[in-house]
Amino acid sequence: MVSTPSPAANLRTIQRSIRGDGICVLTFDRPGSAANIFDLRALTELGEELDFVAGAPELKGLILTSAKRSIFIAGADLTMMTREASTEAVRQLIELGQSVMNRLAALPLPTVAAIHGAAVGGGYELCLACDYRVASTDRSTKIGLPETQLGLLPAWGGSTRLPRLIGLPKALDVILAGKTLAAKQALKSGMVDELAPAEYLMDVAVRLIKRGKPKRPSRLLLNNRLVAAVIAARVRPQLLKKTRGHYPAVLKALEVVTRGLSKSVPDSLALERDGILELVKTDVCPNLIQIFFLQERAKKRTLPGAAPQTQLKPVTRTAVIGGGVMGAGIAQWLSARQLPVILRDINTEQVAKGMASIAKAYQDGLKRRVFTQTEARAGLDRIHPAATEVPLRRVDLVIEAAVEKLELKKKIFQRLDELTADDTMLATNTSALPISELAAATRRPERVLGLHFFNPVHRMQLVEIVAARQTAPEVLQRALRFVQQIGKLPVLVKDSPGFLVNRILMPYLVEAGNLFQSGAAITDLDEAMLDFGMPMGPMRLLDEVGIDVSLHVAQTLAAHYGDRMVIPETLAKMVQAGLLGRKTGRGFYLHTKGKEPKPNPQVSAFQSPVIAQRIPITDLQSRMVLLMVNEAARCLEEQIVSEPEDIDFAMIMGTGFAPFRGGPLRYGDSLGITALVGAMDRLVATGARHFEPCALLRDMSKSGKKFYVRSI
Ligand code: NAI
Repeated sequence: MVSTPSPAANLRTIQRSIRGDGICVLTFDRPGSAANIFDLRALTELGEELDFVAGAPELKGLILTSAKRSIFIAGADLTMMTREASTEAVRQLIELGQSVMNRLAALPLPTVAAIHGAAVGGGYELCLACDYRVASTDRSTKIGLPETQLGLLPAWGGSTRLPRLIGLPKALDVILAGKTLAAKQALKSGMVDELAPAEYLMDVAVRLIKRGKPKRPSRLLLNNRLVAAVIAARVRPQLLKKTRGHYPAVLKALEVVTRGLSKSVPDSLALERDGILELVKTDVCPNLIQIFFLQERAKKRTLPGAAPQTQLKPVTRTAVIGGGVMGAGIAQWLSARQLPVILRDINTEQVAKGMASIAKAYQDGLKRRVFTQTEARAGLDRIHPAATEVPLRRVDLVIEAAVEKLELKKKIFQRLDELTADDTMLATNTSALPISELAAATRRPERVLGLHFFNPVHRMQLVEIVAARQTAPEVLQRALRFVQQIGKLPVLVKDSPGFLVNRILMPYLVEAGNLFQSGAAITDLDEAMLDFGMPMGPMRLLDEVGIDVSLHVAQTLAAHYGDRMVIPETLAKMVQAGLLGRKTGRGFYLHTKGKEPKPNPQVSAFQSPVIAQRIPITDLQSRMVLLMVNEAARCLEEQIVSEPEDIDFAMIMGTGFAPFRGGPLRYGDSLGITALVGAMDRLVATGARHFEPCALLRDMSKSGKKFYVRSI
């Protein structure tokens, strides 16, 4: 192979080489980064390379590939789409991208994208501008257009070329859901033409080049203008119902894709550009992009001033105490992440129960193709059940997930003191008990911390790392590293009742209970919050969490926060009556397997008999949300976390807080702090004392400050 590296090759993103058979290979390898992304520089460079290829008639074909281990191209540089970006800058980026993709599509020689790793967003739009796409069968290969999940739409030709390649229905399925597919599925849908093991990717690409320019089957029937209009008319109301109008990107993408089909490619590209320019001006788009950046931030977070990551002893062996809902979930997750786990419970029966639920989780994962049979078996083999006390000297981390009783947990920690090595980290998964007290019960309080996983463990990415007063910084740093190592997203919080997420969520749930008690309808309360953008209404959530568990957490918090948490008697009455929520089939709703839950008429007996008039849904919404914003502000005031971003991130990841609103504090900013404080004062004036704004909100209202001074 004759290789002619481009000038100053080591500083460039794209390496060019020309093979002996006259095929040009452009390899993306962004300097100093594990990922390839398209920023202005990379796009300009690609444009230059395409000019070179266009001006070299002796070339027989062009292959685009990546030198990165698990990324082909991860899309456009999103920092160029933030709140601060000017419309003009976004327009430039879109137009440059479109023109480069058009130049690629117009090349007279056959072109192939040889995809190994993630080819998403702009990365896949590049592939779409090629004649052929071959993808590696590696697990890291993921193909798709996730733009709508970021409040955007594919605007470098994706909305135009995908329906022309695979037909409108399948293209809409990918674009509207912002899907990324594994290589096999991508082949099935037609998004790639062939698959090959990574080591044969180039061979297949060369074979495709030798086929010459392809003749694609006509999609005329699928893509006819009338059909497009009918599909658009049918899908739009479904999207509106599902998103309650909060996510404009899906509606815009539907419009652009369906209208673009009856237009020429350049006119369809103009629709893409105008569509995305409209979307970046909304608040939704930067709010969703911010979540993406906050996830990236959590993946890389370190503790300021702590020992460098490389000097930290990694966690290689673990133990979980308690094999119930959480313990089994945690043990399964750790074992799937290659970690050996000792799973300890009080007796054989309990251990067997835990193991059975872990085996079921692996079975479910097998069905969903998350694991292969071999991986599932190996995962299960990594768990060592223990029905009696076993030495834990070789374990780096113990996670305690026994029942929520302080005295019991103290005893467990005292035993752990004896059973583990001096540098073993001792973590608890408690929802609300004081970690500092648990720490004080041991001889090495500096090694004790909270690792608060959320339920269900395999689906919830957030883990609160709770620092007790005594926890040593290097323990926190190791815990941060551990949480990142197992693929979860950490938020570092100070020990205080309810930590962060439950502390902010509970006043909201309790208020929902109070409003119910004073006469509000179950469905009104849930509708109010679904309208706000929560994934589930508060009454359904109370049922899911369990009325007994909710009451217990609420009581723990009320013991500390007094007046702010007036717990409705309804909850205790429901517990007494055995109406515990979904687990008993009855709570605020009646739960029947396979059916949509219906409000439970039994609970109306706990409501106040006199209902003066129906409380408007907007008032219900405002009361429940204001309490969350107020508590979130308090957490900042008390420095439970260091930055507002932590709160918004944790609430979105931990509770699904309306992502398009950017989190409770971002929402507070968007309402205006003065308006917020005014609304709370008016409620206080009606006797609702728990709406008293915290000192931070009052100060901010006076000084005109906001939570955020910059966007990310
Ligand atoms: P669970 O009741 O399902 O499981 C508790 C398990 O601990 C049982 O298997 C029990 O046999 C075992 N156990 C009791 N005493 C023990 C001992 N001395 N040694 C070893 N095992 C013992 O409870 P769940 O829901 O799993 O909760 C566990 C912890 O996680 C609690 O602290 C809870 O507050 C916390 N948590 C619960 C969440 C949830 O949604 N269920 C969410 C986040 C945290």
